[in-house]
Amino acid sequence: MLDQKTIEIVKSTVPVLEQHGEAITTKFYQLMFGNHPELLNIFNHANQKQGRQQRALASAVYAAAAYIDNLEAILPVVKQIAHKHRSLGIKPEHYPIVGKHLLLAIKDVLGDAATDEIIDAWAKAYGVIADAFIGVEAEMYAEAKNQKGGWEDFRRFIVDKKIAESDVITSFYLKPVDHKPIADFRPGQYISIKLEIEGEKFTHIRQYSLSDAPGKDYYRISVKREAGMLNPDGKVSNYLHDSVEEGEILQISAPAGDFVLDTNKETPVVLLSGGVGLTPMMSMLKTVVDVQPERKVTFIHAAQNGNVHALRDEVEELAQLENVTSYFFYDSPTEEDRENNRFDVEGYVTRQWLEEKVPVGEADFYFCGPVPFMKAINGFLLDLGVNEDRIHFEFFGPKAALV
Ligand SMILES: Cc1cc2nc3c(=O)[nH]c(=O)nc-3n(C[C@H](O)[C@H](O)[C@H](O)COP(=O)(O)OP(=O)(O)OC[C@H]3O[C@@H](n4cnc5c(N)ncnc54)[C@H](O)[C@@H]3O)c2cc1C
Ligand code: HEM
Repeated sequence: MLDQKTIEIVKSTVPVLEQHGEAITTKFYQLMFGNHPELLNIFNHANQKQGRQQRALASAVYAAAAYIDNLEAILPVVKQIAHKHRSLGIKPEHYPIVGKHLLLAIKDVLGDAATDEIIDAWAKAYGVIADAFIGVEAEMYAEAKNQKGGWEDFRRFIVDKKIAESDVITSFYLKPVDHKPIADFRPGQYISIKLEIEGEKFTHIRQYSLSDAPGKDYYRISVKREAGMLNPDGKVSNYLHDSVEEGEILQISAPAGDFVLDTNKETPVVLLSGGVGLTPMMSMLKTVVDVQPERKVTFIHAAQNGNVHALRDEVEELAQLENVTSYFFYDSPTEEDRENNRFDVEGYVTRQWLEEKVPVGEADFYFCGPVPFMKAINGFLLDLGVNEDRIHFEFFGPKAALV
């Protein structure tokens, strides 16, 4: 428990740190990676370069500090981050390293304004926040390990099948090298892959949502090749596409994540995806079909055109069922798409279209896609009066603000 004085100092200095948030965390990473280059095995270097991880960590620390005397209130946020940490293999011994360098960075950026009293208070507060994360993560590690077919860190899987699903998306079917059972998962969850690329100094870890229904003897992921345009090409996605063939071994952590379909509910469910954001939606769609065959489900997918539209046959087959409806939106259909009636609507999903076509008043909505797509969908749903407890979404990168 923190004393009242410490709580007051921390709460009153949150705005100051927020103001310098990005400068402090940029400094923090510089110092930490300087002293602990081994941590570059865990952090995503592209996120670092784009400043995305800086913002995510900064805002989480300040949000937690603002609730330092009532961390229970932000438990759902702690859990969401803890899922990611557990999937990456973050351990208790990592926390003091982050704490030490965060304090050094605060001192460095704030200079004399960071008095000993302030630094002491933040050291104590960080300890309390870190303990909250460590506690939640310990439970998650135990759960990952003790479940049937479970394991704690990374386990070796063989690429059993590699299937091109579109010009840019390829599926990998992964089976455990030890031939033992694999942990079940909830539709919407992801795994992390840890890659060792020959000639590279550090390992690379990325998350991929499971794109098939639970209950199989394999995990399927479907990966989009991230072309860099003016920037370097995406490291892991291109390596998977170009260099990982059937028979290759990958290291995988057990399924994680709190973006999951609630199968205790019987409300209609609307699954919306843009581009490769369709992967968790596929798993959810197949799950509804398997375990809730009476539940109404609408699958809405937006793609540029038929060339980059993955897994369409699987969706079309399921859409024959009475409880399933699907709509494909193409914003730049090709001539071939037009000739073969490959899409339902030309253009983007709009508020008016949603109002007319889906049961906005009662459905649960799940969506994933590029951030502008997610912002638009979230805005339409809020505008249409959909309560936030019926809105669920996943980011394929560090969390960003949608409103
Ligand atoms: C929960 C979750 C689930 C996910 N599920 C899926 C999924 O099902 N399928 C899927 O395909 N992806 C999924 N992702 C995304 C995936 O984890 C990777 O982020 C994605 O594959 C890109 O990784 P990469 O290594 O190829 O690109 P990175 O090397 O991480 O690069 C990311 C982007 O940054 C750009 N970049 C690289 N270096 C720089 C630089 N120096 N300056 C500026 N820009 C740069 C790259 O061009 C690229 O566009 C998911 C992510 C999360 C968090
Ligand atoms: C109390 C301390 C911490 C807080 C508040 C925190 C917060 C966060 C947040 C908000 C994210 C983004 C989550 C998401 O987008 O879903 C994140 C991701 C991550 N965290 Fe932490 N974190 C803490 C401690 C640590 C520690 C100790 C480590 C290991 C040294 C660590 C390593 C990572 C990594 C590697 C990622 C993914 C980053 C990426 O891929 O770029 N974190 N953390």
